[in-house]
Amino acid sequence: MKILLLGSGGREHALAWKISQSKKCEKLFIAPGNAGTGSVGENVPMKADDFEAIKQFCLEKVINMVVVGPEDPLVKGIYDYFRNDAELKDIPVIGPSKAGAVLEGSKDFAKGFMQRHGIPTAAYQTFDGEHLQEGKAFLKTLQPPYVLKADGLCAGKGVLILPTLEEAEKELEEMLGGMFGNASSRVVIEEFMSGIECSVFILTDGKDYKILPEAKDYKRIGEGDTGLNTGGMGSVSPVPFATTEWMKKVEDRIIRPTVEGLKAESIDYKGFIFFGLINRTNTSTGKPEPYVIEYNVRMGDPETETVMLRLKSDIVDLFEGVATGTLSEKEVIFDERAAVCVMLVSGGYPGSYQKGYPISLPPTPSEGRGDTVIFHAGTALKDEEMVTNGGRVIAVSSYGADKAEALQKSFTEAQKIQFQGKYFRRDIGADL
Ligand code: AMP
Ligand code: GLY
Repeated sequence: MKILLLGSGGREHALAWKISQSKKCEKLFIAPGNAGTGSVGENVPMKADDFEAIKQFCLEKVINMVVVGPEDPLVKGIYDYFRNDAELKDIPVIGPSKAGAVLEGSKDFAKGFMQRHGIPTAAYQTFDGEHLQEGKAFLKTLQPPYVLKADGLCAGKGVLILPTLEEAEKELEEMLGGMFGNASSRVVIEEFMSGIECSVFILTDGKDYKILPEAKDYKRIGEGDTGLNTGGMGSVSPVPFATTEWMKKVEDRIIRPTVEGLKAESIDYKGFIFFGLINRTNTSTGKPEPYVIEYNVRMGDPETETVMLRLKSDIVDLFEGVATGTLSEKEVIFDERAAVCVMLVSGGYPGSYQKGYPISLPPTPSEGRGDTVIFHAGTALKDEEMVTNGGRVIAVSSYGADKAEALQKSFTEAQKIQFQGKYFRRDIGADL
């Protein structure tokens, strides 16, 4: 099978690494990819949301399957573009339709969907610019801290958590006044939930689903979960509190109702669902229970960099199950080992940072050494030299008999990789 994978980050390198190991994959292209994906497939200089160029490429290379890494092409409707095109309609796209991608593209839609299907999540209300006063009144009914979410996609920046009512009112006014452009023309205000987060992933063919290994990511730039939010500074899988009992609650209360809800609402969905969960103590039972913070319609980054290590099954075989509606016949096998990922980032990130610094990597990066696999996130080749090309530069993923062993391997390897301004958190996994 000839496969085209769209995207260019660490998630895509991890997906490409896994796809390239499949016996069913005859040739893998990645568009646009990065310096690392080029070692497990062929990079194509094409934007992940340039549908016209993707169409021409698929026809010319006789592509048999398209796998979508990031949310952008999905929210813009790449699935529907293929289905509605006479020449492309038989090429499966792994990713939801535009209607399904709204689960990530609109926080208000996602909250409404959870409410309609009885899926546990924080209480909320949504307001537009004409209802600022009502929004402020709703804020007064909540306890601090206050959670404000821009309805639309904001590249991970659209969620504000404010300690005081005054700040929340001021930010609400600014968001509705166009702080994130059109994306914040509506704002979801929700109850704050405290607890530890966990990312759970499934693949679904629209009828059945398979649960993939769960992971925890580390969003803040600073050790001890301090400082600004980033795309993710590391991840760990498995997550100790995601026990069989807890995962059963996740499946019964969240996963199954979501897949059945999509079916009931006739939403065409063949792809990944990423459940951003929080383990929150239920005030009436006093027991920790899973609640949904958000849905994403793609895999997480840097969770994929550990989830792919722990997925033993052939991922292309699973994708075939998704495409043909035979996922129930497939088996997902987990690697029993632990996997961790430590992200090396550019100095200054998530604020402004320089690109183009040479990277010195130990040899055989993509195959990894022993139990470590080096995934590239923001790298590029400039005159044959590997240089930094983003805030998150390299994801150092390792296996270990346990989390501690895996972490030790990743930290050792992280020291050996050099580029100007390199920074990483040394406390990944320390809270678990
Ligand atoms: P989101 O973009 O919805 O994932 O939100 C980004 C981050 O904000 C989440 O990963 C949480 O850490 C935090 N967050 C979002 N909603 C809530 C909430 N209702 N209570 C507590 N934390 C939240
Ligand atoms: N790691 C969180 C995300 O991919 O959104």
